Parts: sequence; C-alpha cells; structure tokens
Amino acid sequence: MKKVLVATEKPFAKIAADNIKAIFDKAGYTCVFLEKYTDHQQFVEASKDVDAIIIRSDKANQAVIENAQQLKIIVRAGAGYDNVDLAAATAKDVVVMNTPGQNSNAVAELAFGMMVYQARNQFNGSSGTELKGKTIGIHAYGNVGKNVARIAKGFGMNVKAFDPFVKADVIQKDGVEVVESIDALYSSCDYISLHIPANDKTKKSINYDLLSKMPATSMLVNTARKEVIDEEGLKQILAERKGFSYVSDIAPDMVAELKESFGAQCFFTPKKMGAQTAEANINAGIAAAEQIIAFLEKGDTTFKVN
Ligand code: 3PG
Repeated sequence: MKKVLVATEKPFAKIAADNIKAIFDKAGYTCVFLEKYTDHQQFVEASKDVDAIIIRSDKANQAVIENAQQLKIIVRAGAGYDNVDLAAATAKDVVVMNTPGQNSNAVAELAFGMMVYQARNQFNGSSGTELKGKTIGIHAYGNVGKNVARIAKGFGMNVKAFDPFVKADVIQKDGVEVVESIDALYSSCDYISLHIPANDKTKKSINYDLLSKMPATSMLVNTARKEVIDEEGLKQILAERKGFSYVSDIAPDMVAELKESFGAQCFFTPKKMGAQTAEANINAGIAAAEQIIAFLEKGDTTFKVN
C-alpha cells in the first residue's frame, strides 16, 4: 500500500485535511499527518517509509530526502518551492511539484487587508488615507499579481505591473498598465506589491536604491518572501522617510529591531497568513493529493518543477 505523509508545521484547515485524507482513502493509499511539529527531526523521521510527501512552507531539505528511501514525489501545496532542496530531490530521482494558482486569491486578499490596516494607521483612531485613486505597482504578474490587479480595481486604484516574463498583451488584457522597468514601476507607484519568488537572482534585490525611487509617502507590501528584501536598505529608508511604510506577511530577520526603531511604520503578521484560508487550503490540498495520485498511477508530471 502506498503511503503519503502530509507534513504541515502550520496545519491546513480541518476541512482541507479531511478532503485530502478522503482522496487518498479512495485511492487505497495510507495517509498520515504530521502537524504542528516543533522539531525538524520529527519531519525527517516521519518521512522514512513514505512514497509521497505534501508540504507547505516546511523544509524538504537533504536530510528529509535522503532519509526517505521510498520517496518518489514531493508536492508543495502552494506556489513558492524555495523550501525544497531541488538538487537533492533530483539526485534521488524524486519529482517535485507545486500547485500554482490554488492559493493565490487568499494571498492577494491579505495584501489588501494589510494595506487598509496600514493606510488607516493600524486602526489607532487617527485619520488615515484611502486606496481609491492611488497607484499600485505589481512587481511580478503571476497568479497572485493577477488577483491583486483585480481587487485593486475594485478599490478604484490605478494599476501598473512589471514582469519581464509575461507578455505585455497578457497584462494589458486585464486593463493593467505595463511598465518597462523596475525603476519606472517603483518611481511611479504609491504602493508596491511584491510577488517575485526567492531565488539567487531576486534575493536582497529590493534594496535601498530601488526603494529610494518610491514617492516620499509610499508603502511596500510583501506577501512574497522575506529573502527578497535587503533589510539594511529597508532600515535605511524607514529611518530617512517617515512617510514610508512596510507591511509584510513574513517577518524579517530584523523584526525586533525594526519594530523597536520604527514602530507603526511597519506591520508584520505574527504567523505567515497569506494562504491560510479554508478555501486556499482546500484548493491547494486537493490539487496536491490529486497530483500525487496522477503521478504515481499514470506518471503524470504536470507541474513538475525539477
Ligand atoms: C506559497 O508559496 O504558496 C505561499 O507562500 C503560502 O505558503 P504557506 O502554505 O506556507 O502558507
């Protein structure tokens, strides 16, 4: 009997976990859950005898992959797979997939939740500002960026995007203005919403030079990855510009220092919350389960990333 491990330090909603289990039960697979684990070694040990693993931001590193002697596939139920050691997986012939698009509306909605919270001075009773009439720049126009554009229009915002990997007409079809350079995007937007992945090219790429191009009163919204931010540069901008704010679903490494020095200029969710909705959990969880079965039964490698 094939065995699947669902390793989620931050668990799926119960309804999503029940759906995942039901799919594997129907396929005749054993499905075990390792939730809210506190030590990565628990994940390593639980992966020992499994054929497939579903994870979220859980670290599927070399230790996990090498200990899992029967492992054939890892599915990251979500978009970003920077938490998977792709080289280690490929070396062991383990297929890695993600589930693109399945949680993107949830992430986009959270971006606006944080924007409104910050624009209204964290609900402290003082007079804030509105999103209507402001310009938002979407940095990378993938599944989340597209949802951000849709919602931004509902708020009455002007919407621009920069993404060298997406054809201009695809972006324009959504009624979004295409901007030809990163500098042009940052210099012309009141809000920048980040949707770039964390990789060797993007890490620390949101730096002082780029942020200094933004208007004096502006907001950087990060529902992507903390690694893309150059935190020293961010600190410098926050210090120089009282009108600049940073809201993020992923607390920076310098969280304590930034909170202490800049207080309400920053907001960080206490736990990464972007994809944490029942709907996103169900969508991504079901997709992951179905992708595993399609791969193990029929060799379907759609959504393979390695
Ligand atoms: C993603 O890459 O899909 C998001 O960052 C969500 O991550 P999570 O599943 O750990 O909440």
